[in-house]
Amino acid sequence: MAFLFHSDAERGAVFREVFARELPDLEFFQSGRGVEPEKVRYLIAWTVPDDISRYSNLEVLFSIGAGVDQFHQDVVPQHVKVVRMVEDGIIRMMQEYVALGVLALHRDLPAYFEQQKRCSWHSIAARQASERRVGFLGLGMLAQAAIAHLTPFQFPLAGWSRGEKQIEGVTCFHGEDQLAGFLKQTDILVCLLPLTERTRGMLNSQLFAQLPGGARLLHVGRGPQLDQAALIQALDSGRLAAAMLDVTDPEPLPQDHPLWLHPKVMITPHIASVTQPHTAAQSVVENIRRHRAGEELIGVVDRTLGY
Ligand code: GLV
Repeated sequence: MAFLFHSDAERGAVFREVFARELPDLEFFQSGRGVEPEKVRYLIAWTVPDDISRYSNLEVLFSIGAGVDQFHQDVVPQHVKVVRMVEDGIIRMMQEYVALGVLALHRDLPAYFEQQKRCSWHSIAARQASERRVGFLGLGMLAQAAIAHLTPFQFPLAGWSRGEKQIEGVTCFHGEDQLAGFLKQTDILVCLLPLTERTRGMLNSQLFAQLPGGARLLHVGRGPQLDQAALIQALDSGRLAAAMLDVTDPEPLPQDHPLWLHPKVMITPHIASVTQPHTAAQSVVENIRRHRAGEELIGVVDRTLGY
């Protein structure tokens, strides 16, 4: 029985070491070349290998990242479980980044950076956190972890998800019918949705028009969820006051893309949250133990929903 690590050599070396210690009876391969394909039960990758059909006994396909939208799931046999990466490193980094972004947008950092470029010393009237409503689009595990770290600041917190959720201290909205009500009361919108056919292009002019004037956007979902031209228009018209983007489409943006130098935009290169190999290896080990014991896996994807 074998585990195939189909990703970068550096993280592979860490996985190899952790697997040798924790699951010594499972053969470990870092390349499909040396392995007898029918031995492979578990495979971890960022994108699905072209030759996945060789692995006729594959049972679980793990994503090395938090998302699974990069997998073309139609080439993955239906009986194979697809599992997202759920690990402490990703969670902690997302908590940090969302706190950083929400606070930066709340405290007008983009406007102050612009002033600094002009050597201008000028204060902008500050709002209290208790008067700045933060709303999360998407209430999955990462959003809930980020919300937990925002609570001490006293922002009124809300969230929207496709299905109904209840989270203590968070006003929860769900479904298409409640989206407008959620947007109407959101001053800082944090997008942490998975990319699916339904969320592609969801951050568009129609959505921006439903936010209160001067709202701010923190985008930590996936680039294709955002209509970038609509964002620029909303910023230029003053409908939105500022945006912080960790994801774009494409990544990176072309050198001459207007978002790069937009005075109301802060961009980071998809670094909000990155899989940390030691904790990730440990979490995959835990899932393999669960799988062998016939227990439910953590982060298993509902393949009909795509996340
Ligand atoms: C990053 O975006 C990831 O999916 O881990």
